Amino acid sequence: MTEPVPFFQPAIGEEEIAEVSDTLRSGWLTTGPKTARLESSIRDLAGAQDAVATSSGTAALHLALLAIGAGPGDEVITTALTCAATVNVIAATGATPVLADVCPDTLNLDARKAEAAVTGRTVAVLPVHYAGHPCAMGELAQMAHRHGLVLIEDAAHALGAALDGRPVGSTADLTAFSFYATKLMTTGEGGMLVGRTDLVERARSLASHGEQWEADDRRSLDAEAWRDVVQPGLKYRMSDVQASLGLPQFAKLDGFLRRRREIAEAYVEALAETEQVELPTVRPGARPSWHLFTLRTRPRLLSIGRDEFVRQVRLAGGNAARQFRPIYREPYYRDRFPGAHTALPVTENEAARVLSLPVHPRLTERAQARVVDAVVHVARRFGAEVPRQPQRVEGDLST
Ligand SMILES: Cc1ncc(COP(=O)(O)O)c(C=O)c1O
Repeated sequence: MTEPVPFFQPAIGEEEIAEVSDTLRSGWLTTGPKTARLESSIRDLAGAQDAVATSSGTAALHLALLAIGAGPGDEVITTALTCAATVNVIAATGATPVLADVCPDTLNLDARKAEAAVTGRTVAVLPVHYAGHPCAMGELAQMAHRHGLVLIEDAAHALGAALDGRPVGSTADLTAFSFYATKLMTTGEGGMLVGRTDLVERARSLASHGEQWEADDRRSLDAEAWRDVVQPGLKYRMSDVQASLGLPQFAKLDGFLRRRREIAEAYVEALAETEQVELPTVRPGARPSWHLFTLRTRPRLLSIGRDEFVRQVRLAGGNAARQFRPIYREPYYRDRFPGAHTALPVTENEAARVLSLPVHPRLTERAQARVVDAVVHVARRFGAEVPRQPQRVEGDLST
């Protein structure tokens, strides 16, 4: 067996090492001036009013829901095709997560399906920019507006993505980014909540024990000053050690995104003739971040299922992963969402055939060629005879 190409490798250079060392030598380790610089950089990139840096993307999402006051008796509409964090944070506030189906092309929350799930208890809608393809924010914003809902974006995959020239983070009331190690840029663990100043200021306080933070004394080092605890908050702030990893990463973000786009384009070109797999759709006006490069297997053209396809690609020296198992299939959520697998047919069908290939700035052309060779090899080896009267696979846009 050939060793698989690494699925991900962090892109950390001397700049990051120097900046972190500078922080360690400075004597100021926790939230401070470097965190403030990273906040302004991300705020401006996202075209948002304000930003608060957090200890993770999960913390940013949790703060968003706490800042809008979501709690027991409230409902928040989201997608099942996401990292557990998106749904967990809703449950953690005591609110009820409500799942709506996704669009078959982008696998992003379908605004019409989300609207059909609105009840008198709904307080927010929480779409996820799956794989970094921007959601239809105009439709979602209109729908949220019609029903008086708060719009919160889970943009863990979508830093730097845009739709019709509008950056992800500029439309919703609140947007959460993740700087986890595998994300578009990293602080090791970390995240950022951007959005409306009133809500971000509440989140900033909630991230710091519920203390009152005045806009002009955020970074005050004055040990004499008392800070009033005005609400029961948590401790979710980013440290300057994390931020000092993030600042050089932010400086490289354009290059990272460009390299991801090149890799995605090269996959599209190399796999265009491999009919056993379906390539990702890019909607007109969308600029994805390519956090993931996804393929979907075409069941009627293959004698093996997606899981075996992924295993065979690895055995052949490429690499692939499955993202995500729908949340209603996780043991904790099975009982909370009985019947979701039939109520969400697009999620159910598409989650069973989606896989992703390595896409990260350090992926070499040679490594990518190995991934392509492995995919083509597995597709041919397990390619099934095409039935004379092809059956339509639900959600398969190719037919
Ligand atoms: C869609 C999505 N939302 C939220 C998160 C949580 O981010 P973090 O790992 O920074 O807490 C992740 C994964 O990391 C994710 O993929």
